[in-house]
Amino acid sequence: MRDFIFHNPTKIVFGKGKVKQIGEEIKNFGIKKVLLLYGRGSIKKNGVYDDVTNSLKENGIDWIEVSGVKPNPVLSKVHEAIAVARKENVEAILAVGGGSVIDSAKTVAAGFYYEGDIWDAFIGKYRVEKSLPIFVVLTISATGSEMNGGAVITNEKTNQKYSFWSFTSYPKVSIIDPTVQFSLPREQTVYGGVDAIVHVLEYYFDGAKGRILMDRIMESIIKTIMESVEKLIEDPKDYDARSNLAWSATLALNGLTSAGSFGGDWSSHAIEHSLSALYDIPHGAGLAIITPAWMRYVMEEDKEKFERFAKEIFKKTSAVEGIDAFKSWLKSVGAPTSLKDAGIPESDIEKITDNAAMRSPFGKLKKLYREDIKEILKLAI
Ligand code: NZQ
Ligand code: ZN
Repeated sequence: MRDFIFHNPTKIVFGKGKVKQIGEEIKNFGIKKVLLLYGRGSIKKNGVYDDVTNSLKENGIDWIEVSGVKPNPVLSKVHEAIAVARKENVEAILAVGGGSVIDSAKTVAAGFYYEGDIWDAFIGKYRVEKSLPIFVVLTISATGSEMNGGAVITNEKTNQKYSFWSFTSYPKVSIIDPTVQFSLPREQTVYGGVDAIVHVLEYYFDGAKGRILMDRIMESIIKTIMESVEKLIEDPKDYDARSNLAWSATLALNGLTSAGSFGGDWSSHAIEHSLSALYDIPHGAGLAIITPAWMRYVMEEDKEKFERFAKEIFKKTSAVEGIDAFKSWLKSVGAPTSLKDAGIPESDIEKITDNAAMRSPFGKLKKLYREDIKEILKLAI
């Protein structure tokens, strides 16, 4: 177990019908005007928009809206929202949506105070130390962004999908009402579950030893997500499955699973971000393609841990059997597990490698250079 600091300042309000509490939570901070940021309309169909705006009205909070944040959110939308936030002099950002909306909100909250282009935060030219307060109504469990300080944005001019992290980007309050996720399309539920599993795996397989408690917690999170996703495919309104998936996804990337680690490997994520930057595929789908290939490529670096994964998650004995079982499970829930499944031709491997290699070397369990990235992509054909 390595030394660590655990400090998570986000208040979580979890449960049925809790969306209506958002106005009061914001009012408690003495905030009178917010920028309401959301996506491409699902919140208008499932009633979340009405619940949020009614709650704002009841609590005397004024708002201005920016909508149309797309999955794999882009920098131009962030620029647009920063301009509105400044012009309207808002005091906080309220994100109503999933990771894409929340990450955009975090970037707007930081960009509000930064004179230059906030893209600088993503390329290491600016360290975010000040942000507007951020509030969240979560509508899809996947990224953990509702309880962490990270944001991932695509610069559509350069095809770079990069991230920044700041302690000032943790939401003040996040409302997680699993019932609002009843309206999710099957594939979004699956991709969300896959993303959360891979967040755990990034910490599980980073080479740190002696994390007895954390290993057991991480295995429980993975098993709970798998079971919940299977149940939700059968019944999207199974509340226990929704709520267990939701809390698992939050815990997967809120600092808990990082305790005592090397900080996570993050290679699967780094390579996946090139897939979503270049092909605009959902993040969870990209991870389902890359992660098993990465596992195959690096398993010799910590055979014991891969064998443990095989045994604890799939009741198998060898590392290879465990990885194959994981891949089979991904297929069984309808996730793509190869570039071909996602319609990406083998001839594009060079292009994807070039994109991912811009940030190489990366990885903790095995440091990956350009050639390694290419080999992993070949394993994902
Ligand atoms: O556009 P809307 O209407 O919001 O529709 C969304 C979108 O089409 C829809 N949706 C969300 N809630 C719904 C719903 N549809 C029906 N009913 C609901 N209740 O689902 C689609 C996907 O939404 P999105 O926000 O993109 O999903 P997710 O939460 O998976 O976020 C993915 C983004 O987060 C980044 C990813 O790279 C990707 O860009 N990540 C952020 C991280 C972080 N901040 O910590 C870490 C992750 O590893 C990840 O990289
Ligand atoms: Zn992820």
